[in-house]
Amino acid sequence: MTSAAPWWQDTVIYQVYLRSFQDSNGDGIGDLPGLASRLDDLRDLGVQAIWITPFFPSPNADFGYDVSDYCDVAPEYGTLADWDALVRQARQRGMRLLVDFVLNHTSDQHPWFREACSSPQHPRRDWYVWRDGPPDGGPPTNWRSVFGGPAWTHEPRSGQWYYHAFLPQQPDLNWHHPGVRAAMADVARFWLRRGASGFRLDATAFLFEDPAWPDDPDPDRQPPWPLQPFNSNRPENHGVLRELRAVLAEFNAGFDDERVLLGESCTDTLAELRAAYGEQGDEIQLPMNFVYARHWQRDAPFFQRLIDDTQALLHDRTPVSFFSNHDHWRQWSAFGDGVHNDAIARLTAAMTLLQRGTALVYYGEEIGMADLPEAELAAAPLGLSRPRADPRDRARTPMQWDAGPHAGFSLGTPWLPLPRTWGDRHVAAQRADPHSLWHWYRALIALKRDDPALHAGAHWPLHADQSSVLVFGRRSADGTLALVLLNWGEQACEVAVRGLPAGTGPTAEVLLASPPIAAPQRLDRVPLAPYGVAVLRPQGVNA
Ligand code: GLC
Ligand code: CA
Repeated sequence: MTSAAPWWQDTVIYQVYLRSFQDSNGDGIGDLPGLASRLDDLRDLGVQAIWITPFFPSPNADFGYDVSDYCDVAPEYGTLADWDALVRQARQRGMRLLVDFVLNHTSDQHPWFREACSSPQHPRRDWYVWRDGPPDGGPPTNWRSVFGGPAWTHEPRSGQWYYHAFLPQQPDLNWHHPGVRAAMADVARFWLRRGASGFRLDATAFLFEDPAWPDDPDPDRQPPWPLQPFNSNRPENHGVLRELRAVLAEFNAGFDDERVLLGESCTDTLAELRAAYGEQGDEIQLPMNFVYARHWQRDAPFFQRLIDDTQALLHDRTPVSFFSNHDHWRQWSAFGDGVHNDAIARLTAAMTLLQRGTALVYYGEEIGMADLPEAELAAAPLGLSRPRADPRDRARTPMQWDAGPHAGFSLGTPWLPLPRTWGDRHVAAQRADPHSLWHWYRALIALKRDDPALHAGAHWPLHADQSSVLVFGRRSADGTLALVLLNWGEQACEVAVRGLPAGTGPTAEVLLASPPIAAPQRLDRVPLAPYGVAVLRPQGVNA
């Protein structure tokens, strides 16, 4: 189908945490050939684009988010030829690949940083951020890093300190330096030339710091995330992002092939989020909505307001919704009450996928994978030479494919254990069961792709006469309407939908519901089960 809109609007992007997706050679680590062998599974789910977490050479202080060579593949993940094969095989299935691009920092083992450390006179010295400490000792400012601890590390040879928003092994690049900008633009070109459809941009908010380097008045706030006032969302960011968009444009060949930036734009407010698209829409096409993604509470009024506000403010942009990723809780665990987790997972999926905009699905979300319990995480090996136990590993356990050893992830010992209770929760079982969560995701993705209202329809704000029920409409240019009703309550209810367009008929056809319901005879009395979902097509629109 050719459409008038770029492919990345109103679509689903599936995030593969490569290390944990599919191991092909028995070393317990997921890899590119493993991912290639699972493309059919993803295509069957309806996935059209995949964001792959970093697979570049890295000392793995932060599992690939500390890159020591931007233009190669780490041996544990495969080779450049494996990447090329993956691109080919994805294309054959109509799927696109997004590369994770770590802009803010390199590894401390990157040759650029080693050269920078070799002498204060080295031409690459200023590719990083150096400062002298005060005469009485200690770091240049009291800033904390996102991961805790000081944001400065002392470099003994020169006596200067280098700045790192994240780990000491992740020195920040100095984006004021034209050499850095040119080198990173070339990295982008390298992957675009090799078939990437765009990038997920890591930590884009952190590229610049306050040039006055003021002391932080509240350095001990816990956690240091969300944003500190001085180290992020600086106005200089916009120029870098516009430059990157221009690099992408060198490779665009029409809407069907437009290259895209998906941004980890850590914004605390919708106004900041709007700014991340760029005033002219010429920066990040898809900045992730973290206001949505960080509210892990069963809270219908909050999401009702947030969704309506987001859609109003971003009416001419593409909102990006998600809950789970490799830094977050898994939503099955975070929203679950221990009893109705599957029903609630259907609800959070419908809310996220059926909104106007693009949705992210984190691997395993579609079968309701759970977080690794704390005790099991504590007993798990650290993994390589990582400097610290990482609580985020709870959401990075091996993908559960089938009933085989290690759930079909690996013939060897997985780098991180599966939760002991993974039991029969795996893709093979759920594919065979038409009532499974996997089939629910598949149906939602199909609606988002094929239904005229749910694919590109505008947001139509509605309200329900019950505070536990969240409701919104989607309306295509020709007036086709879809209603999404979500009962966040533990009680069954009958709900009246208010605010329908004039002429909307009294009855409705059911496009999808959980649990199944009969076609409602009245839109002012739609029955919903506890945590029930109904996606309806009213009859009689424009009558
Ligand atoms: C982003 C990544 C996270 C990483 C950090 C530093 O937040 O998602 O995994 O640790 O950036 O690169
Ligand atoms: Ca492997």
